[in-house]
Amino acid sequence: MSAYKPQASDSKATFKHDLFKGKVLFCTGGRSGICYKIVETMMSHGVDAAIVGRDAKGLAESAMNLEKSTGQRCLPTSADVRDPKQLEKAVKDTVDKYGKIDFVICGAAGNFLAPITSLSSNAFKAVVDIDLLGTYNTIKATLPYVRESHGSYLHISATLHYRGLPYQAHVSAAKAGVDALSNVLAVEEGPRGVRSNVIAPGPIGNTEGMSRLTPKGWQAQNDIPLGRMGDTSDIANAALFLFSPAANWITGTVLAVDGGENHIRQLS
Ligand code: HXC
Repeated sequence: MSAYKPQASDSKATFKHDLFKGKVLFCTGGRSGICYKIVETMMSHGVDAAIVGRDAKGLAESAMNLEKSTGQRCLPTSADVRDPKQLEKAVKDTVDKYGKIDFVICGAAGNFLAPITSLSSNAFKAVVDIDLLGTYNTIKATLPYVRESHGSYLHISATLHYRGLPYQAHVSAAKAGVDALSNVLAVEEGPRGVRSNVIAPGPIGNTEGMSRLTPKGWQAQNDIPLGRMGDTSDIANAALFLFSPAANWITGTVLAVDGGENHIRQLS
């Protein structure tokens, strides 16, 4: 028997290069990290995209890089997801450019480590507003177009609220809300041919969130059954599947993409 070598896989080894030809993606939080990689991978399978965030300069740079690496079109359009008016404008920019929206990724998120005793009411609210209210606002602004195209939503959640993770009360509460919101969207909009699913990423290397939130000295291979830290391409591959026609009877699901990490219980 050959030795098991834990490794990530390139999307092109599994998915057709033109899987999303003619489709349009609207993504909040696409400037960097996990969502950047999902957008890049979907663009390299034919999608045209709009990326949305607060940092106009950073968005423009990311959109340029995405166009360069994939040959597809990418529109940078700045909005704070906490502000419904700004989101409506970003949606209008997208529809003016591409004529429609097929896919939506609700990925904008904020996070920092703080025990409940150090969290002000406003600090708790800031994260819930970005992660949960921002998801609601994104759904409201895009739904008329997604109904039109019988399209699909993907929400980026987390696994930290499956247990009680210290210093993450604000994010845990917000992400649990995102999971619940997606389920309701799936049930309400299923009869109109709109799907809604969640990916819950485990620890993903080389992301801002990971570098800020992981304890020093933590060893992925000790805590993750599949023996390695996640890669942004692991999340992108799962996203491709959930948006693809192969998933057209999958809605209202939360897919943990975490190498089995959320099932671990330490023996003591
Ligand atoms: C305690 C803090 C704090 C900290 C901010 N606050 N940082 N409290 N400890 N480390 C408090 C502030 O004092 C303020 O409360 C309130 O939070 C709002 O802060 P602002 O800076 O005014 O808000 P804003 O500019 O909107 O910034 C939002 C933010 C920020 C979430 C606080 O960190 C942010 O924008 N982050 C975006 C980038 C990011 O976090 N990316 C990582 C995503 S990774 P007071 O009472 O003073 O007014 C991710 C992964 C999740 O989400 C899964 C992990 C496993």
